[in-house]
Amino acid sequence: MAKLSQSVLEELWFGEDDPATADAKAAKSLAAHLAELEGLRPFPVVVQKVIACVSRPDFRMDQVRDLIEEDPALAARILRVANSVAFQTRLPCASIQDAIIRMGARAVTDLAAGMAAMTAFADVKGAGKVVREHCVGTAAIVRALAYRGSDGVIPAIAFLAGLLHDIGKLLLMQTRHQTYAQLVGSAVGTTDELHLREREFLGYDHAVLGGHVLAKWGLPSPLPKVVAWHHQPTRANKAGGSVAVLVACLRVADVIDTLVSSDKPTDGATAKRLADGSDAVHAGLGEGDIAATLAEAPKLRGEALMLFR
Ligand SMILES: [Fe+2]
Ligand SMILES: [Fe+2]
Repeated sequence: MAKLSQSVLEELWFGEDDPATADAKAAKSLAAHLAELEGLRPFPVVVQKVIACVSRPDFRMDQVRDLIEEDPALAARILRVANSVAFQTRLPCASIQDAIIRMGARAVTDLAAGMAAMTAFADVKGAGKVVREHCVGTAAIVRALAYRGSDGVIPAIAFLAGLLHDIGKLLLMQTRHQTYAQLVGSAVGTTDELHLREREFLGYDHAVLGGHVLAKWGLPSPLPKVVAWHHQPTRANKAGGSVAVLVACLRVADVIDTLVSSDKPTDGATAKRLADGSDAVHAGLGEGDIAATLAEAPKLRGEALMLFR
């Protein structure tokens, strides 16, 4: 894996704890780890080509279509998601061409990137499977929240942010840190705890690692930043704009998915507690929005898991 530029490293950094010391220590740990990730589950070449294509101002839709159709398995998966309940366009998409016309080339590219990333981890077991399913569940839930919350959050981007938010955990499980799976296993059922243990254990956390890797893969802004900052709400809020709202939405979805997946009973008090929290406030989500999403979350999660099976 090529070295990330120093500016990206600095921009995605922790910042809110003890900027000078923590940043320097973490940058060193992560730089060493990124070298180890070289060659592991490389991002599919087709998706890299499509991302490069749509980032050129003069790209043509037929180029995007032709590139995606080079990988029939990927094309089939994109159509399955584009036609799913969670992602439905007004008319069904019979081809990649239809999907591009109805959703736009950029949205299809983003979807391809998310599908490709999750497919790379389709065979994970144990704690890895729990993390993968949590990513898929959070994607479906954050998309539903994006429809209900503040303007300015595009549901398709929210879906992708949810899908990729904990990809750093999946990457960490593949590397030399054998005890990492145990660390994750011990934190199952919690949302804002594991990253603190990671910082102690590794010197950085899964969110920052995920953000770096997504930036390296060429995923569009603001995704790398949203992923990097999903455990740093103060920093995201300071940045404001779509990053702040997306991080807030994602954090609410993260909690809802954790509750739903652990079969913890949810009631009006859960909705009120979540709605009173700062994430819901920043995301523009009221108690009614949260209660409605909590009620449909098990169904949304189940449908999304079927799609990514
Ligand atoms: Fe996370
Ligand atoms: Fe999460």
